[in-house]
Amino acid sequence: MYQGYGLADNDGRKIFVDGGVPGDLVTVRVTHKKKDVFFGEIEKVIEKSAARCSSGCNAFGRCGGCDWLNIIREKQLEYKEAIISEIFYKQDTGTRLPIGFGKQDMHYRNKCFYPLKALNGKIIFGMFARYSHKIIEHNTCLIEPMVFDEIAQALCDHFMVTNTEIYDEATGQGNIRHIGFRQDPGTRDIQVIIVSRKHRMPFTNQLVRVLRDNFPQITAVIQNINPEMSNVILGSEDKVLFGDEYLKMQVYGKVFKVAYNSFFQVNIEVLDKVIEFLEDILPAGGAILDAYCGTGVLGICLAKSGQKVIGIDNSQAAIANAESNALANGLTEVDYQCGDTMTMLPDILAKEEIGTVIFDPPRKGLTKEIIEQIVSHKIPVVAYMSCNPMTQLRDIKQFSEAGYKIIYMQPFDMFPQTWHIENVVILKL
Ligand SMILES: C[S@@+](CC[C@H](N)C(=O)[O-])C[C@H]1O[C@@H](n2cnc3c(N)ncnc32)[C@H](O)[C@@H]1O
Repeated sequence: MYQGYGLADNDGRKIFVDGGVPGDLVTVRVTHKKKDVFFGEIEKVIEKSAARCSSGCNAFGRCGGCDWLNIIREKQLEYKEAIISEIFYKQDTGTRLPIGFGKQDMHYRNKCFYPLKALNGKIIFGMFARYSHKIIEHNTCLIEPMVFDEIAQALCDHFMVTNTEIYDEATGQGNIRHIGFRQDPGTRDIQVIIVSRKHRMPFTNQLVRVLRDNFPQITAVIQNINPEMSNVILGSEDKVLFGDEYLKMQVYGKVFKVAYNSFFQVNIEVLDKVIEFLEDILPAGGAILDAYCGTGVLGICLAKSGQKVIGIDNSQAAIANAESNALANGLTEVDYQCGDTMTMLPDILAKEEIGTVIFDPPRKGLTKEIIEQIVSHKIPVVAYMSCNPMTQLRDIKQFSEAGYKIIYMQPFDMFPQTWHIENVVILKL
């Protein structure tokens, strides 16, 4: 089921079972009910599904990271296809292509942030438990590069030796809150981010030396300062402690500069496949409007020779990256604007001859007003990429009612070992 549940049938009563795998015979304890839906957890597995495998992770089931580590890969792909079919069952999806996936289904994520905690005289790092702020410690995360855990351990050892205060969420006191990493899978260069509550972080030179001596692939160490008592990881101030302000990431044969606080897709092997799919379909006529452009990757990779690219993103860091990425990749006809998509859209649509709009919004999707703008300007092609097929379906219904048709749809396994799916739809008027 979407969101990772197994669907159980108990004499006609449907129960969403946490950790249940299709084909399991299990006894289930009903935990709660939301509207007409019952939710439950497994009490006892009587007969294991043939789709099950060993998770191989000591934090599996407690950590909020991956829910499907206990399902064999082929079955994960099959279930994701089935989930998309179920979500879009009333929609004409045009030519539906089989799920796109990469070879690398483990250690594929190029970025992570770990919260830290001082516990029983130790400093631990890990992931938050599902729906909670309890830190689940792990030794090796199976979906991130192993070196992230090695650097995280070196940082915790350094904080222990230097008696550095660790932030306490409950009281808002202490200093070091999170540590983060991003790696280019091609060059293996790594950017390290340390989020502190205070500007002052003792023994900074020593910290940089320890990291560089032990991990020569680190090209930047950045301190981000977040004094707020909130769940948001990053604050608005930062200091480069060593190296570059950005990491160079390689996508589709091009190089992109990415600031530590700019969004970037987490699985580049699969991102390349998404771009390959879109490149064959998108037309050369008119400009590309890359709404929610981030560091500019999609528009820059997809622009045909001489085609203008206009980009919108509400992150100043991402727009600065997009501008320099366009230039570095030989695009001269570009216009990147920082702001809210809905606010910027009317002006851009009034002035520019747009042939294709690329939408890649956050999980909440588009708004009615954004779609109305596109529809009223009769933009001929819309490429809609989404990590939330539910909000994508809602938006596509609105496009369909206005006369757009899906001509191609392809899901992608951007997030192996989890129930998450990236879905790409091409709409034409
Ligand atoms: C899913 S990411 C896509 C980024 C880019 N397309 C890529 O592939 O790297 C969504 C982007 O939308 C931006 N964003 C979020 N809300 C926005 C809004 N209301 N207006 C404009 N940009 C927004 C974020 O900063 C982020 O870069």
